[in-house]
Amino acid sequence: MAIRGLRASAQWKGEAARQPILDSVTGVLFQDWAGFSASTFESGSVVPSIRLSIIAPTYNEAGNIIPFIERVKSALDSFDWEILVVDDNSADGTAQKAFDYGISDKRIRTIIRLDDRGLAKSSIQGMLSARGDLLCVMDADGQHDPATLVDMVAHLERANLDIVSAARRLEGDHAVEGLSPIRHRLSNLGNSLSSLVLGRKLSDPLTGFFIIRRNRFLQLAPKLGDPGFKLLLDILYSDKNLRHDEVPFDFGVRVHGESKLDIYVIWKFVTFLLSKMTGGLLPVSLISFLFVGGSGVFVHFTVLYALLSFSAPFIVAQALATLFAATSNFLLNNLLTFQDRRLRGWGKALGYVKFLALSAVGIVANVSAATLTYERVVHVVFLATLAGIAIDTVWKFVIANRFIWK
Ligand code: GDD
Ligand code: MN
Repeated sequence: MAIRGLRASAQWKGEAARQPILDSVTGVLFQDWAGFSASTFESGSVVPSIRLSIIAPTYNEAGNIIPFIERVKSALDSFDWEILVVDDNSADGTAQKAFDYGISDKRIRTIIRLDDRGLAKSSIQGMLSARGDLLCVMDADGQHDPATLVDMVAHLERANLDIVSAARRLEGDHAVEGLSPIRHRLSNLGNSLSSLVLGRKLSDPLTGFFIIRRNRFLQLAPKLGDPGFKLLLDILYSDKNLRHDEVPFDFGVRVHGESKLDIYVIWKFVTFLLSKMTGGLLPVSLISFLFVGGSGVFVHFTVLYALLSFSAPFIVAQALATLFAATSNFLLNNLLTFQDRRLRGWGKALGYVKFLALSAVGIVANVSAATLTYERVVHVVFLATLAGIAIDTVWKFVIANRFIWK
C-alpha cells in the first residue's frame, strides 16, 4: 500500500504542499500524501494514507453496482483509492452485492442506513466515514464516468483548488444524452436560480459529481442542511471561500433501473433554494409549510363557493371548507414538508386527528390575534388579518413539528 501511495504521489509531484489533516474518527494525524503518503500512530507504527475516497450513494442499483466498481478499478489503476457504497437498505440486494465484493477487495466498504432515505444525507455520511485526503461523490448507476476522476484530481492539484466538480456538457454537439428534454429545461432553470443563490456562475451547479479536500469538507460539514440531491450547491453555499472550478464530462446513460429523482426531490430543491434566498432566515420546512398553507386557502375558497352555489347554508359551507382545507394541508404536509418523518397507517390516522385539533385551536388563535392587533396595534383590517394568519401559521408549524411529525 505504501509503495502504491508513493508511486501515485510521484505522478503529481511539484504541487503545493498541504496541511496535515486530523482524522476526527480515528484521531490520527495524516501527513500530506504528496509528502509521505503515510501517517504515524502514537505507537510509531506507520499506516498508509488513502488518497481518494469515492463515495457512491446507492438506492436499488443491484444491476449497476458491480460494473461501477469494475470501471473505477480500471480507471484508477495507479491511484490509492477506496470506495464507500452508502446504501439506504435497498430491497434489491445492492448492499449485499457490494459487501460480497468487498470480502475479496478490502478497498470496497459498504455502509447501510436504516432510518431514512436521501442522496445528500447518504453522501454526507459516507464522506464523514471516509479515509481519503480527497473525497469524491459520484453516482453508481454508470452515468458518471470514472475516467473523469483523473482529470478532476489533476486539475484540483495543479490549480491548488479545494473542490472540483464535473460539469455535464449541456449544449451543442455534446447535448446530454442522459437527460430527457423536460429534465434538460428544468435543469437549465435550476442552474440559473442556483447561480443566483451562490452569487457565482457555474456551468453546472446541479451536478452530483465532485471531489473536495477532506479537511475543507470537515470544516463546513456542520453547516450543511439536507438539500436532497443538490449537495454540491449546499457545500459551495456553506463556504463561499472554497477555491472551486469545473471539469467538463459527458453525462452517460443509465444502464439498469431508473432515476430516483421524483416530485419530492424537486420540491426539496425548490424550498432549499428559497430558504437560501432568505439568507437562511426561513427554514426549508417552514417554507414548504407556508406553501401548503397557501394551497389550503385555495382549497378553502373553492369548496366554499362550490357549496354555496348549491345553496348550502353558509355555516355548513364554511365548516366543510375548513375541514377540506385542513385535510388537504395535512396530506400535503405529510407528503412534502415532513417527507422524512412521513406518517403511515395508524400513526397517520392519529396524526390527522391531532392536526384537526390543532387547526381548530388555530382558528381561535387566528381570530384572537387578529382582533387584538386590530384593537391595540393597528386599526387596519388587512394588516390585522395578516397578523392573525401569521400567528396561526407559526403556532401550527411549531406544534406540528413538536407533536405530530416528531
Ligand atoms: N443512498 C441513497 N439514497 N442513494 C440514492 C438515493 C437515496 O435516497 N437516491 C438516489 N440515490 C443514488 C442512486 O442510486 C444513484 O447512484 C445516484 O444516487 C443518482 O441517483 P439517480 O436517481 O440516478 O439520479 P439522476 O441520474 O436522476 O440525477 C443525477 O443527476 C443530477 C443532475 O441531473 C444525480 O447525480 C444528481 O445528483 C444530479 O443533480
Ligand atoms: Mn442517474
